[in-house]
Amino acid sequence: MTNGTTVASFTGAQPAQENILDGALAGLGATPKTLPSKYFYDERGSKLFELICELPEYYVTRVETALLGEFAGQAAALMGDGASIIEFGTGSSEKIGILLGALERPAAFVAVDISPTALRAAAETMARDFPNLAVHGVCADFTQPVALPEMPGAGRRVVFFPGSSLGNFNPEQSVDFLANAARLIGPGGGMLIGIDVKKDEAILNAAYDDAQGVTAAFNLNLLRHLNRECGANFDLDAFSHRAFYNAGAGRVEMHLVSLHAQTVTLGGQSIAFAEGETIHTENSYKYSIPEFQDLARRAGCEPVRAWTDAEGLFSLHYLSVASDPAP
Ligand code: AVJ
Repeated sequence: MTNGTTVASFTGAQPAQENILDGALAGLGATPKTLPSKYFYDERGSKLFELICELPEYYVTRVETALLGEFAGQAAALMGDGASIIEFGTGSSEKIGILLGALERPAAFVAVDISPTALRAAAETMARDFPNLAVHGVCADFTQPVALPEMPGAGRRVVFFPGSSLGNFNPEQSVDFLANAARLIGPGGGMLIGIDVKKDEAILNAAYDDAQGVTAAFNLNLLRHLNRECGANFDLDAFSHRAFYNAGAGRVEMHLVSLHAQTVTLGGQSIAFAEGETIHTENSYKYSIPEFQDLARRAGCEPVRAWTDAEGLFSLHYLSVASDPAP
């Protein structure tokens, strides 16, 4: 039994701090230049992302939260009594709270996050808000195989992956990710995935290039992060934010554009930029409902039900793991 504010278990060591310098040099040495979008999220970047979620142009968080409010009961009915929920990444406690509140006697909640501080905070919030729930924290990089804690009880295992986080992966990586998640929870398991939908280009462009410039600050903060973490000397005034929908690839791309020819040093290496040259910093893939259902099938998952809002801005998908998942 768990009591009020106690987390049942914390497992997993903090994954070895990945060498940001190596990752940055690899990306900046490539043609065209890239940087990994996971480097956005230092402390300031995480705060800027929270501000993005409240922007009028960034419908993603608002519409997904409303969809959960409206349809969590239907999703919970598909998950059944006594389900154990596994959330990849600790985002907003509001979304997971809506789902847990809709479930019939949920047995356990497992938060998986790479950041031990974010993990502890999220697990403690859920343990406090759901005193009868066994809350577990697993500190792990969820793009690598994850070990789940012991969870007594025969309920269904359900992965919760909201926020269109899957959109940062390309379609092939997304299939791999879903197939790994399916293996983790096993046949009969379920998944509730929130994914952004293809739509009018103007809406997408505005969502990633807002009038207040918060997304621009979020993108540029990546350079500030590298200046601090690897002693780089990026001049933040010498780069600008560019975001646009690439219809052919089905994704929003974010780039940082070098405003003039310049040389930046990091890790003892000089990186030359031509005027107008860009660093590709993020992809955010968008899927029509049938496209995402196809992708789920390729991962050995059965699309059971999809929900969308009246304007078709965002989607929630409930998938079940086929009894013989893809090899
Ligand atoms: C957190 C990856 C889902 O792609 O919409 C928001 C990140 N980037 N604005 C997204 C993001 C710019 C976001 N994800």
